[in-house]
Amino acid sequence: MSRILITGAASGIGAAAVESFTGRGHTVIVIDVNAHGEIIALDVGDEQGWADLVQDVAPLDSLVNCAGVRRRTLLLEVSAAEWDAVLRVNLTGTFLGVQAFARQCVDRKRPGAIANIASTTAFAAVEGQPHYVASKAGVSMLTRAAARELAIHGIRDNAIAPEPTETPMLNQRLDIPGQREWLTSMVPLGRLAQVEDIVAAMRYLLSEDAAFVTGVTLPVDGGRCSPSGRGDDADQPTHKESLIVTLHIRVDHELCISSGKCVGDEPEVFAFDDNELAYVATAEHQMDRARVLRVAQNCPSQAIIVHDEHGDVIAV
Ligand SMILES: NC(=O)c1ccc[n+]([C@@H]2O[C@H](COP(=O)([O-])OP(=O)(O)OC[C@H]3O[C@@H](n4cnc5c(N)ncnc54)[C@H](O)[C@@H]3O)[C@@H](O)[C@H]2O)c1
Repeated sequence: MSRILITGAASGIGAAAVESFTGRGHTVIVIDVNAHGEIIALDVGDEQGWADLVQDVAPLDSLVNCAGVRRRTLLLEVSAAEWDAVLRVNLTGTFLGVQAFARQCVDRKRPGAIANIASTTAFAAVEGQPHYVASKAGVSMLTRAAARELAIHGIRDNAIAPEPTETPMLNQRLDIPGQREWLTSMVPLGRLAQVEDIVAAMRYLLSEDAAFVTGVTLPVDGGRCSPSGRGDDADQPTHKESLIVTLHIRVDHELCISSGKCVGDEPEVFAFDDNELAYVATAEHQMDRARVLRVAQNCPSQAIIVHDEHGDVIAV
């Protein structure tokens, strides 16, 4: 049985991974910035913290870099401080973990296996979270670079790209009426990912079954990223032509609506505020901040609902 260090292990995918590996007899070192019970406190962006921790808990056979944060802010409004905060956890934290883990493997002349958690946004950009998208693309390329350098030491490094997975990180968003249906509609296999879907891929990548696999970012996405990059039904030209949207915007509290303008010829999604309200529009249906605010001010409660020309709700 092996010794596995898992970060971001207090919640969501990381917590499910702890349960899965522990249940199969492995020794799991449980790490999170929010420490309680058996969880060891580490901020994954803390370089010295990594060095001290790995010295304390070595030897290690495997590492799962699962700690992550997501912020939703449009590119024009992201501050350098917010950008740094996301990159520090998601990308620098992953790098520091890979480096500290690999150093202890090399020092002890032991092989090792790493699973980093990226995201499908590493392949398919979405609006409203440029720092998150960039950080996850960085994790994917870091994984490839590390795999090449570490292969000579018998260390494999792979990543997993989950589609929206039902965890606390996503639940804030699922609270918005219609979000679940909308997200699900983009997944060919017809459901959101569950934590066990992601953990199963993790088990494979860390196992001997994946002995000849390194440097990959494995989508666990129900087919969403295949084959067009976004996988949305709306990519079909016929659908695009008929997509004349009507926005019904209702507000019952002060909304902080960011500017958003549809520039592509495919339907686009914009995040507007901290409650993650979004709308879908086409190139023919451009909206600017003033117009969105004007519409919102005339409506009675909090929601943005988008219908197609037949009255079917296509986003809420
Ligand atoms: N849930 C999804 O839909 C989804 C989709 C794609 C990728 N992911 C990625 O999966 C990973 C796990 O996400 P989740 O959905 O389980 O989220 P989650 O919010 O449930 O768990 C994230 C954990 O990371 C910890 N963490 C945050 N900052 C940290 C830091 N500086 N140091 C140590 N720990 C820190 C948090 O305390 C938390 O326990 C993340 O990297 C996330 O980006 C999630």
